[in-house]
Amino acid sequence: MCSYIRSSDVNVLKILIKNIKELVQVDDGTRIKVTGKDMAQLPTLKDAWLSVEDGKISDYGSMSDWNGVEDWTGLEVIDATDKLVLPSWCDSHTHLIFAGSREAEFVDRIKGLSYEEIAARGGGILNSAKKLQDTSEEELIKQTQVRLDEIASMGTGAVEIKSGYGLSTDAELKILRVAKKLKESSDLTIKSTFLGAHAIPAEYKDNRDGYLDLIVEEMLPIIKEEGLAEYIDVFCETNYFTVAEMERVMEAGTAHGLKPKVHVNQFTSIGGIEAAVRHKALSVDHLEIMEDKDIEAIVGSETMPTMLPSCSFFLSIPFGPARSLIERGLPVALATDYNPGSTPSGNIPFVLSLACIKMRMTPEEAINAVTLNSAYAMDLSETHGSIAKGKVANLFITKEVPSYAYIPYSFGSNLVDTVILKGEIKSTNGKV
Ligand code: NIG
Ligand code: FE
Repeated sequence: MCSYIRSSDVNVLKILIKNIKELVQVDDGTRIKVTGKDMAQLPTLKDAWLSVEDGKISDYGSMSDWNGVEDWTGLEVIDATDKLVLPSWCDSHTHLIFAGSREAEFVDRIKGLSYEEIAARGGGILNSAKKLQDTSEEELIKQTQVRLDEIASMGTGAVEIKSGYGLSTDAELKILRVAKKLKESSDLTIKSTFLGAHAIPAEYKDNRDGYLDLIVEEMLPIIKEEGLAEYIDVFCETNYFTVAEMERVMEAGTAHGLKPKVHVNQFTSIGGIEAAVRHKALSVDHLEIMEDKDIEAIVGSETMPTMLPSCSFFLSIPFGPARSLIERGLPVALATDYNPGSTPSGNIPFVLSLACIKMRMTPEEAINAVTLNSAYAMDLSETHGSIAKGKVANLFITKEVPSYAYIPYSFGSNLVDTVILKGEIKSTNGKV
């Protein structure tokens, strides 16, 4: 049974959700991120209504102050008795455009090989790059659309997508052109990131500078000319790219209008955070291995520390020290890292559960981290990430649940009932 009443007018431009048990993450639209001890606060309104018009949240308030509807033309009314309404999740770190899967490596890891050993044998990123180079743009769009539909059904409404499984000019551009097409056609809000420096391709094994020259001199100018990305990323890590190499790529990216947003401290602490903050990175992502000096490097900056707990879960590596950052007065964002190697999952509700269970974040902190703070980590917090008048109407209605803490508590369940993206109803009862 559908949980909403469809009006006879098919051109629905307006939606009214009434009797909302609790409207979560409400504000006046002026907060752009939540920091330190403020992360423990999650503003909500109980027994509320919310209206949507022309793709935006037009208003919200308490049912006790509701004045009724003057004009019912084209209005869809949804009764959300016993249900919550939340802003759609913002997933600020994914590698969503990839070809095929790598479950054979998953089995190798179960049998005892490490992620690093698999990569050294030509598996890992290079394995995905080979698959992607042999996959057409149309096929990539098809595979990615399935993933977009799946994450939308779990409540995600905005997603950052990286290249990085191409590792040649043609293949990197193919990924970014797919991202551009999806940006234009998708119900979700999409931002894209150029991650040419994800791994050194086999043919450049003895000529690292040659690959960096290719990124800087050949790929970046085309990306700028075609407007293919907003951000520049580098996998700064032992056996991947050094801090100096990351700095070269960040500088070139910045010169081509791309803001740095980088992979650092996944397996080792080699000074990437300090360098990224110095280059005004929008976010530093992963942060599983953090020394005190890495935390201190972020203090006082505008850079959003972003942690990816489902990657820690899947690879059995440490979870990022979110509590230490919050206690040091820093914000924390959370994202999925959806990719075929270290995180074959785009499930934000599971990220919330892991954050609460494994990182000791409270439900309030975790929800702030996947809404306003992750919106900030993709330059979207002025339009996404909270329930505010004038923000894009990307939101979802839950099934009947006792409270918002029930979302991370009931790990593995999908509690999303109705998805609204850009002001349109996309699904009910969890089906897209
Ligand atoms: O973010 N760390 C670098 N890149 C991906 C994983 C890459 C892969 O194994 O395919 C990540 O975890
Ligand atoms: Fe990643």
